[in-house]
Amino acid sequence: MYLTREEERILRGEEGYTSQVAMRILVALGDIFGADRLIPIESAHISGVSHKTLGDAVDFLEKLQEEGAKARVYSSINPCGLDLEKWAEMPVTKDLYEAQLRIISLYSGMGVDPTLTCTPYYLKDVREGTHLAWAESSAISYANSLLGARTNREGGPSALAAALVGKTPRYGLHLDENRKGDYLVDVQTPLEGASDYGALGALVGRGAEMRVPVFSGLKECSRDWLKSLGAAMAASGAVALYHVMGVTPEWLLKSRSDSQLWREGKPEETVKVDGRQLKDAYSSLTTSPIDVPDLAFVGCPHCSVSEVEEVAQLMEGKKVKGGRRFWLCTSRHVKSLAEKGGLITRLEAAGIKVYCDTCIIVTWLKEAGVDSIITNSGKAAYYAPQFCNVEVVFDRLPEIVKRVTE
Ligand code: F3S
Repeated sequence: MYLTREEERILRGEEGYTSQVAMRILVALGDIFGADRLIPIESAHISGVSHKTLGDAVDFLEKLQEEGAKARVYSSINPCGLDLEKWAEMPVTKDLYEAQLRIISLYSGMGVDPTLTCTPYYLKDVREGTHLAWAESSAISYANSLLGARTNREGGPSALAAALVGKTPRYGLHLDENRKGDYLVDVQTPLEGASDYGALGALVGRGAEMRVPVFSGLKECSRDWLKSLGAAMAASGAVALYHVMGVTPEWLLKSRSDSQLWREGKPEETVKVDGRQLKDAYSSLTTSPIDVPDLAFVGCPHCSVSEVEEVAQLMEGKKVKGGRRFWLCTSRHVKSLAEKGGLITRLEAAGIKVYCDTCIIVTWLKEAGVDSIITNSGKAAYYAPQFCNVEVVFDRLPEIVKRVTE
């Protein structure tokens, strides 16, 4: 991979140890994936923040901070294992809380914004065509597909390395040719709500794997629903970019010519999705027939203001059943916007716990006495059995509200 003089200097360690380590990671990645050079990035988003998942990598962060590592571009971080303000109501000891705070302070010490959300795009505008180095597969999918920005599926270490250098290797989804579609999904059934889109995502992700799906037949789909689609596809497959005909920015740009849209000038494979397959996708995300699971969960990825509003409307005049719990997870930024409109007060009055900075997947759910959940998120339903060891019921939001309220 070609390096400029300045990049060579960093690689030789002339700008300090931490920049050198970061540059080594980027050069190794660039060499593996055949990148021709490094390109500047607008921002980095780093995963690997929860004490539950970070493990020994804390030592690596400690070392970087001791050596004075500093982010060179705006950088944000993913959720951690607890709500920083309400941790005492969670299954978290003081020691665990302090260990989690230490991790966050290590990132902050490097100049990283302690956003603690998987929806950094709600906090800061992302311009179409800009290059990013984001970890967190749902955010990657959102940035590439809905915002027309460009990022590969970074891991925590490579996103951090990119933050410390301010650049990323130019390969994969940074290049026009890799952003063309190759897997046509013809949706032949009407869809509505995050769970329909999550079910579709879980289904398509398995078939598409790392290809770029292009959807036809999706009408009047909101950004919230497409967020759910992308998150589920990134979980069940490794989809980092998709297009929706007539909707997403790159389809609109490329709609003039097939050679600009399709990698081979036409779809490599076409699949059809009908109502029966969608129903099967719901069943495959449900691991247990339990009627009223221990915990209802909404907010994977973290809720937008309109999603908070939707839950508040559905909960009007209702209360969470005794002995059951209902969590809604969002970012502190979205929570403060929703607070102004009185939405949070309404949710809390109905018995919903609104948690920020965290989610069910990265917190200690079993320790909270939860053995089963019900959710409208395809991604959470897909991951919860593996990462939280709980049973899952996957359902539509109005149905969830009906089941867990009185
Ligand atoms: Fe976000 Fe947690 Fe889901 S980090 S995308 S809410 S698994």
